[in-house]
Amino acid sequence: MMLDTSPSRPAEILGALRPSVAAESASGIVDVFNYAQGKPDVIPLWVGQGHLPTPDFISDAAIASLKAGETFYTWQRGIPELRRALADYHSRLYGIGFNPENFYVCQAGMQSVQLAIQALLEPGDEVVVPSPAWPNYAAPLRMAGVRPLEVTLDFNHNHWRLDLDRLFDSVTAKTKVLLMNTPGNPLGRVMTRAEIIAVRDFARKRGLWIIADEVYARFYFPEPGRNDALPPSFLEHCDRDERIIFCNTFSKNWAMTGWRVGWMIAPKIMGRVVENLVQYNTSGTTTFLQKGCLAALEQGEAFVAAQVAQARTGRDIICDALDSSAEIEFARPEGAFYLFFRIAGTQDSTALSRRLIDEAGVGLAPGSAFGPGGEGFLRLCFARKREHLEVAAERLLSWLKRR
Ligand SMILES: Cc1ncc(COP(=O)(O)O)c(C=O)c1O
Repeated sequence: MMLDTSPSRPAEILGALRPSVAAESASGIVDVFNYAQGKPDVIPLWVGQGHLPTPDFISDAAIASLKAGETFYTWQRGIPELRRALADYHSRLYGIGFNPENFYVCQAGMQSVQLAIQALLEPGDEVVVPSPAWPNYAAPLRMAGVRPLEVTLDFNHNHWRLDLDRLFDSVTAKTKVLLMNTPGNPLGRVMTRAEIIAVRDFARKRGLWIIADEVYARFYFPEPGRNDALPPSFLEHCDRDERIIFCNTFSKNWAMTGWRVGWMIAPKIMGRVVENLVQYNTSGTTTFLQKGCLAALEQGEAFVAAQVAQARTGRDIICDALDSSAEIEFARPEGAFYLFFRIAGTQDSTALSRRLIDEAGVGLAPGSAFGPGGEGFLRLCFARKREHLEVAAERLLSWLKRR
């Protein structure tokens, strides 16, 4: 008998993949990004990063480590000096003690989310996710066979309201985790202290885990007159050794999105589990990158302060300009560095974001990329230099007049 040695057809190959992985569509942010490639003079405000490269004092520390030959296999949990520096950094910020044993270094915020998913969830489990949300929660959950229960926030009178009763009512016997992001991407909404405490109490009562993503905690813009430097945090209200995993990253505060280094704060008792997960995912995070991260924590405060000040100015430039149009609606963001706004009459935000690339020269992420509640909106990253934002606002306003 002749063996069939003909190559498989593309459909057969896809058909043989794990259905939950093959079925996942491309991120709507990536779609717009790809659409704009090669088009001249588009102001890129679709992704979450500033325009500055990583400062030299961070890069130099990584280069020095690389040149010193720190190129070998490394600690699964992160190098001890970085874990200690992370604990000290949090102690300085929050004025409470942190133990290095609760810190786990990994490959950026995205991997901290993945490790939390892998540690906590099995196919068939459910996770409550307030929505609109960063798309990189629902997609990896679905790919892991886990069902995201997306609970939509209400947008009314230029305000996003989180209905905690609805959030709690969505929990079923299969729900294991509440995934909370504050300050939030894409809404720029900051959870109140009362909301944080209510979520914590509910999770404790029902034996649920919390995954708390606070990667934008430094980007907080309280109203003038308020002197709280940081937004309310689960860190202040939960014990490090209870059922909570914090996700964080070097990407945003220190302009290090391309480095791919982040951290988790999780119960000490999970040490062996996290170590195994790291071992079988990546076998550790590059030592010389971690040395750069150490410099970021030890010498980076002035840089972070400048980034936050620039983001606040960016928020004001964009909000003040777009507020002048009766056709645009939004909640003024209190944190993170995104404006999530709606142009009257928008039905299809993907089509609109493509039109804005072609007709206005402004690159925005479509609201539909952020899950239920996002369609009709657009997301703009304002962590950019003043000139970019001023020109982007002018272009959007003049496009509105002539459309
Ligand atoms: C809410 C949120 N969490 C986590 C991340 C992770 O960032 P990274 O993987 O670049 O560290 C992002 C990035 O945009 C984000 O918006």
